[in-house]
Amino acid sequence: MSLDDLYRRVIMDHYKNPRNRGQLEDGSVSIELNNPTCGDKIHLQMQVEDGIVRQAKFVGEGCSISLSSASMMTEAVKGKSFAEAMELADKFSGLMKGEEVDFGDYEDLEALSGVNKFPARIKCATLAWNALRKGIEQSESH
Ligand code: FES
Ligand code: FES
Repeated sequence: MSLDDLYRRVIMDHYKNPRNRGQLEDGSVSIELNNPTCGDKIHLQMQVEDGIVRQAKFVGEGCSISLSSASMMTEAVKGKSFAEAMELADKFSGLMKGEEVDFGDYEDLEALSGVNKFPARIKCATLAWNALRKGIEQSESH
């Protein structure tokens, strides 16, 4: 299996079996964002305790790239501090710019590396991450 096939498989797995899809009863952070180029939406909720993201869930409409990215992002940020989550968001931005990135304990994210060749799809892949950034900024300003 080529790396492309492997990456495609990881993306489709997250799309078909999204992790953390749904709503939180006790989410303290709630962000709704859309992709201006297609109108697709994401609603991200996080439950934050002692500065750590305990839970992250999303609901949304979108393409396979946007939904699999949201699935991976919510998996990757669970148990992370805001600073660590922001670090991940920065790494993901680097990936979208074509940089080689090491995601440490969450390497599924590397599957989205091929997206950086398609500018329109970068917006799909970054939607969930933009929601994450916005959620963190919002909570920190309170
Ligand atoms: Fe949406 Fe290809 S994944 S157009
Ligand atoms: Fe709308 Fe990808 S086509 S988020």
